[in-house]
Amino acid sequence: MSKTIIVSNRLPTKVLRTDDGLSFQPSEGGLATGLGSIYREGENLWLGWPGLFVHDEAEEAHIAEQLRADNMAAVFLTEDEIRDFYEGFSNSTLWPTFHYFTEFATYLDEHWAAYVAVNEKFCAAVLEHAGPDDIIWVHDYQLLLLPELLRQARPRATIGFFLHIPFPSYELIRVLPWRTELLRGMLGADLLGFHTFGYMRHFLSAVSQQLGLPNQNGQIETPSHTVRVDAFPMGIDYERYATAAASEEARSHVAAYREALQDTRIILSIDRLDYTKGIPQRLRAFNQLLERYPEWRGQVSLIMVVVPSRDQVAQYASLKEEVDELVGRINAQYRTISWSPVHYFYRSFPLAELAALYSMADVGLVTPLRDGMNLVAKEYVACRLDRRGVLILSERAGAARELSDALIINPTDTRQLTEALHDALVMSDDEQERRMRAMQALVRRYNVFSWTRLFMNQLAYTKMKQETLATA
Ligand code: G6P
Repeated sequence: MSKTIIVSNRLPTKVLRTDDGLSFQPSEGGLATGLGSIYREGENLWLGWPGLFVHDEAEEAHIAEQLRADNMAAVFLTEDEIRDFYEGFSNSTLWPTFHYFTEFATYLDEHWAAYVAVNEKFCAAVLEHAGPDDIIWVHDYQLLLLPELLRQARPRATIGFFLHIPFPSYELIRVLPWRTELLRGMLGADLLGFHTFGYMRHFLSAVSQQLGLPNQNGQIETPSHTVRVDAFPMGIDYERYATAAASEEARSHVAAYREALQDTRIILSIDRLDYTKGIPQRLRAFNQLLERYPEWRGQVSLIMVVVPSRDQVAQYASLKEEVDELVGRINAQYRTISWSPVHYFYRSFPLAELAALYSMADVGLVTPLRDGMNLVAKEYVACRLDRRGVLILSERAGAARELSDALIINPTDTRQLTEALHDALVMSDDEQERRMRAMQALVRRYNVFSWTRLFMNQLAYTKMKQETLATA
């Protein structure tokens, strides 16, 4: 009986050091819920970094043992590895390049060396657990070399890979000094998944132009095996959000927020602090709304939740300053004693509070400059139990391919964004309901569980076909 091993840079559980010792907290990411049904079963396993630096071997052993009880295995990273592999190559080379921000990308040999070394470290950790015929599903840009490393060590294994961020045009990929190694690394998989057909096409084109390997209907023949490439748009755990929005706890938050905000209309924005999310552009559009349509002053507020992220990387720290300054300027200019234009929070919120905010927002404002999928857009839809509210969505988020009933905008076009905000605020109830109903049907149906099933089935099918051909 083969087992399934999930591998990602972060584990679905984060370990924190508190005054009372170590605390193990479930990560709230969508991936953790979606894959929970797989890794918790039988001998299956999820392998990744638990998110903290260990002090000594005893602590390491203690954490490993705790995680093991919940089918997880820890890959511990040192401070140097976090600096050069995580903050360095992953988030200062690959992340900006894949999101079309080449001006932020650095190309340092020591970061590349750390990236190779940490991918090898993950490979060694997987091999400690993987048998020759196991199924291994690798996730995201931090581990692009892992499929090929695993292929060399376990030629018969079934290897899947899913990229959670955009795959950009070949013109971006070719800038990378290590483009050949990275593409070859990914091709170690039997099945490669992307959020959209656009990303998949970019990948096929990069492989053809850089490696001279053509594809036939998304199938690439390498000297060792056939690689199948396909699009799998990721979904959310719809019921989890819908249930949270209906809960007593969320309702009491809504009542408290309403009391504080009175009749003010709400535009909601929720993101990790990241330059890909278009946060300053969004603030400028809101500012223009108040300028161009003075009737909204005192009537509408922007609630902006920004979740701290990667604050050791230079661009993230300077973005924080830019956002602080913009918010300060808008509030200083327009605030009255009884009304704040922008309610800005720089921290994460628990699910019940998020669901409360989603469920009362007249407008969900999701305007990234680039985004692999963007699950916030789907979470907003799932929480609108009353079928009201308008989603404004960037055409450059993967989610825009599915959620065509949102108001789709170009996030760099401030004028268009400003007009979309006004249109959303005056949209009739009937039109809101028609659009929301269509989006809910889609988000409910193509949820994270169907996404997981689809990928796993396709992976099993790809492998079966290969084996049939090999024995024919
Ligand atoms: C994106 C990436 C994930 C990553 C997450 C949080 O969604 O695709 O791989 O885990 O951001 O970023 P962090 O750097 O905190 O893991």
